[in-house]
Amino acid sequence: MKVLITGGAGFIGSHVVRHFVKTYPKYHIYNLDALTYAGNLENLKDIESSINYTFLKADIREAHQIQALFQEYKFDRVIHLAAESHVDRSIRNPLAFVNTNVTGTINLMQAALNIWNDLNNHLFYHVSTDEVYGSLGRQGYFTEESLYKPNSPYSASKASADHFVRAYGETYGLPFVISNCSNNYGPNQFPEKLIPLFINNIMENKLLPVYGDGANVRDWLYVLDHVSAIDRIFHKGKNQETYLVGGNNELTNLQLVKLLCDVMDKKLNRPEGSSEKLIKFVKDRPGHDQRYAIDAKKLKSELGWTPKASFNKDLEKTVDWYLANKSWLANVTSGAYREYYTELYENR
Ligand code: NAD
Ligand code: TYD
Repeated sequence: MKVLITGGAGFIGSHVVRHFVKTYPKYHIYNLDALTYAGNLENLKDIESSINYTFLKADIREAHQIQALFQEYKFDRVIHLAAESHVDRSIRNPLAFVNTNVTGTINLMQAALNIWNDLNNHLFYHVSTDEVYGSLGRQGYFTEESLYKPNSPYSASKASADHFVRAYGETYGLPFVISNCSNNYGPNQFPEKLIPLFINNIMENKLLPVYGDGANVRDWLYVLDHVSAIDRIFHKGKNQETYLVGGNNELTNLQLVKLLCDVMDKKLNRPEGSSEKLIKFVKDRPGHDQRYAIDAKKLKSELGWTPKASFNKDLEKTVDWYLANKSWLANVTSGAYREYYTELYENR
């Protein structure tokens, strides 16, 4: 089976690629990635010379380029993760999110339909986010029946892509599955998302900008649990179905940041409480969703998936990875990163 994984040089994609290359030697894994600021082939050094792995540098916004690759390699199945993925960037440049997340997804589906004659043997798997459902109050959970109500340009672009995938299924018979997952954490995450940004800032003794009052809630899932869910849905998911993936692990941002500060103090041998002193409450993110929480009952009852991770242990493992990979951090935080953050945070 020829499996195309898009966005495989990014955070989640790199773990998905590694898992599929190692677990399924009979599959050939093609990793298609444009290597934007968020893509980094260092994430895949250990598997880059595997015989069942090929990297293809390409941009999903370029329809002709994508069609040519489908014609040449005849991919059987697609796991689509390539995206612009950061809410704060989407607030500053929404169109970039439409171009990659919406147009890019359509380009991939169109290219697949052009070569997939017998639709039964194929699959287009769209990896999406729970943010398409908008914000919860104190009570309740997102389920597969929740209404789409995206609040940020990022989530609106992912919601739009979900709708196009569904429409391609209904209109052209494209075989598809969609999964909508909660916030991931773990190694290889670009230090613009909360956890790796704050790890990096603590290491550099920089302020920790907590948006608003820090009471917003996220449901954190260790990235390898997301990978195991993707594997299960890829192999066992039913055509045209959506599956929600969550960690059953809700924390307010402030609870999470304080926990992270404690772990960092211990790891860096700093006096207790020193990292917490770096917390600075800053102006809230516009359109900031209050709470995300997933009810992953369907994935459990129909496909037998549950998350394995234990949050405290895996947060510590994540911190250990960043401390052991300072050159990875130094590489991705050089150049444009510094300019971006000087403007975004230090002037806040
Ligand atoms: P990421 O930003 O770390 O990686 C995205 C990857 O896509 C990068 O390697 C980048 O180079 C590539 N890419 C971007 N634009 C491209 C283009 N035009 N053509 C080809 N490649 C391009 O993202 P991530 O956090 O790993 O998220 C992966 C997917 O999972 C996204 O679709 C995201 O919406 C979804 N998701 C993420 C989370 C999360 O917590 N990170 C949660 C749920 C769903
Ligand atoms: P983030 O990692 O950007 O993920 P998402 O917005 O997709 O949930 O943010 C997680 C939470 O942390 C979110 O409620 C916003 C908050 N946050 C901060 O308070 N400060 C920061 O510097 C960042 C990046 C996020």
